[in-house]
Amino acid sequence: MPATVIVGAQWGDEGKGKIVDLLALDSDLVCRYQGGPNAGHTIVVDGETFKIRQIPSGVLRGKICVIGAGCVVDPEVFLAEVDDLESRDVTTGVVHLSGEAHLIMPWHVAIDQASERRLGKLQIGTTKRGIGPCYADKAARLGIRVQDLLEPKILRQKIEVALAEKNVWLERVYGVPPLDLEEIAGQLEAFAQRIRPYVSDTSLLVDQALREGREVLLEGAQGTLLDLDHGTYPFVTSSNTVAANAATGIGIGPNRIDRVIGVAKAYVTRVGEGPFPTEIEGADQERVRELGGEFGTVTGRERRCGWLDLVALRYAVRLNGITSLALTKLDVLSHFAELPVCVAYQLRNGTETLEFPAHQSDFHHCRPVYETLPGWQEPLAGELPPAARAYVAFVEQALGVEIALVGTGAERESVVALR
Ligand code: GDP
Ligand code: IMO
Ligand code: MG
Repeated sequence: MPATVIVGAQWGDEGKGKIVDLLALDSDLVCRYQGGPNAGHTIVVDGETFKIRQIPSGVLRGKICVIGAGCVVDPEVFLAEVDDLESRDVTTGVVHLSGEAHLIMPWHVAIDQASERRLGKLQIGTTKRGIGPCYADKAARLGIRVQDLLEPKILRQKIEVALAEKNVWLERVYGVPPLDLEEIAGQLEAFAQRIRPYVSDTSLLVDQALREGREVLLEGAQGTLLDLDHGTYPFVTSSNTVAANAATGIGIGPNRIDRVIGVAKAYVTRVGEGPFPTEIEGADQERVRELGGEFGTVTGRERRCGWLDLVALRYAVRLNGITSLALTKLDVLSHFAELPVCVAYQLRNGTETLEFPAHQSDFHHCRPVYETLPGWQEPLAGELPPAARAYVAFVEQALGVEIALVGTGAERESVVALR
């Protein structure tokens, strides 16, 4: 079973990094297929915390790591991550960066920040890392790619052309200072020197590995409900996060994917704006946030916390073709006597549905229908207590998908394999 996709099944921060780190143990390659430094994966190894943004989580296991064509790369963030990892004795010689990936340029970051400011109350709550503007330029065919770093003349010319237009936007539309051509060109040329050794034909590399029967993990960033097409638009990220995009984002055929593992928290969190039916009211939200350490890895923002939403999770199973689930952070629920689980949505017309509403207004106005399960109120270590097993079984039954792994703590080892 060589190619496995690991995909976030909620609004991101499901604990993908930790699950990828675990599965990387038995894999040869770990490949990121979309997103950029909006991602933040925390992995705790022997009490030491690693926060990874651009490089696949498999780097901590010394596996070959691929940043695919579907990703966007901020060269400054990438190199800072390389330096951080190397300073902690993690080799980055295993990292291969697709020449087709797009570069996040300083104007993308400036526009992301200015545009959020301008939207005011209507803002999306982005990570302000230039993700949206970079993908927009890619679609508009104005982007600058990693491979442009290999050719200084072309690079400079592209920066010049792009900046001439972007500075008009920055000054006239957003009323912020323009960016300096010489400064940016100089910076990019310096980054280019250091990034060149990482650039490869990653589609070919992954294809060859698959032909040799090697185990390949394809890791998604963000989560299903942040998918540009199928998520809670416009409160989404600017790439396709769903499993099918793993093939496009890496440059392999869809028939090479054998398994899709969804990662979901035992509850739900969301960072940024947008509808969130199971968001907890009252003091329990704060309690979940504190117990789960729910503060953003990238921005430090408080994550909004909600009870497990099986309607949204059923939708994620459908969109991704999830074949098994990892249910993380079950330990965080150990402190609650009663655990509400959303089993259906009640729509504006009073009807109840098990399926995620296709129309945004239905979703914005739906009310969660809860079933309350008993808590276990004891720490999770080793064998799960009966009430925790019942919680897991309830989710499996509602979704018709097996839960293979359960997360019981932040440490690398804190996982219970049920199958
Ligand atoms: P990702 O972006 O999907 O990789 O998730 P993040 O790393 O942003 O957020 C997940 C957070 O939960 C991190 O701080 C992890 O260290 C932590 N974590 C992961 N799995 C577990 C778990 O099973 N239990 C607990 N208590 N923490 C976990
Ligand atoms: P990982 O990989 C959680 C959210 C932002 C915002 C929306 C758009 O750690 O799960 P963007 O900067 O992408 O244009 O922001 O998407 N968002 C995430 N939320 N985890 C992430 O990544 C996220 N990446 C983006 O908060 O609501
Ligand atoms: Mg995260």
